[in-house]
Amino acid sequence: MTRSIRILSGVQPSGKLHLGNYFGAVKQHIALQDEGTCFYFIANYHAMTTIQDAQVLRQNIHDVALDYLALGLDPARAAFFRQSDVPEVTELAWILSTVTNMGLLERAVSYKEKIDKGIEASVGLFTYPVLMAADILIYRSNIVPVGKDQVQHLEMTQDMAGKFNRAFGEIFPIPNYRLDKESKVLGTDGQKMSKSYGNTIDIFAEGKPLEKTVMGIKTDSTPLGQPLDPDKCNVFALYSLFASPEEKAIMAADYRAGKVGYGQAKKILKGRMEEYFAPFRDKRKELAKDPGRVDDILRHGAKKARAEAEATMELVRAAVGLKG
Ligand code: TRP
Repeated sequence: MTRSIRILSGVQPSGKLHLGNYFGAVKQHIALQDEGTCFYFIANYHAMTTIQDAQVLRQNIHDVALDYLALGLDPARAAFFRQSDVPEVTELAWILSTVTNMGLLERAVSYKEKIDKGIEASVGLFTYPVLMAADILIYRSNIVPVGKDQVQHLEMTQDMAGKFNRAFGEIFPIPNYRLDKESKVLGTDGQKMSKSYGNTIDIFAEGKPLEKTVMGIKTDSTPLGQPLDPDKCNVFALYSLFASPEEKAIMAADYRAGKVGYGQAKKILKGRMEEYFAPFRDKRKELAKDPGRVDDILRHGAKKARAEAEATMELVRAAVGLKG
């Protein structure tokens, strides 16, 4: 029997999703449900390296679960679960740590960056890539969709899998990464949209708060009635995410003819955004009313995932000589 391609990714429960997250990653991850067997999990063990407040962690986990389910994650097709509901992954992380050189981890850019930012270096932060490798390998995943910042972690995973296989036999397929779309979404200040720049537009925002954010998008000071250059305008770039090619062309012509000002363009953008996300927002509200259901979905996902993880661990324990 040929096994379908296994696709796996983890998402950190780190707060509200913004347009950059959605168009850069989440949208593609949801679409991948048609291409293979998906395992998507909420990386709550990893989140502990930065969040040390039980209430915040619990809330973020719940929020990200609602976000993904509202945006189209289909629990009938993808196993969607909390990382910590498959505790075997920590056992595999330990085993992998014994075939991982200190030097490999010391070269991790994301670790070095966090240290440079002044985050205290816990052992957990340092061994973060080992747990991530365990996440991937325990489901014997083939493809891992990730952002550019995670590529080095994937290369480390390949390294660990190769070393393990050479020492103990071919247990793990060597996983490949699939790069998320280079997110070209710019934030309200014109820099790349990112939580760390404080320039995000949240996808589930609506009404006054959304209006405030959109109206605050930086533009130049061309007076009303003057021609505008759509290619230099962030409002236009954001509008393009929601418009058809024809609509884009019309808006660009209006810009050049001085028929539309920044204020009006922003109002149109806000309307478009609200309209685009309206069905997702409704779904999210509906799910939020029923936390028990969300919990059931995650538990059901964990059951599927855990069965796979157990099967892998049986092979691993036998291969390394812990058992049998
Ligand atoms: N480190 C990833 C991030 O910050 C999250 C993550 C944890 C992950 N385990 C993973 C991603 C396994 C892909 C595969 O985005």
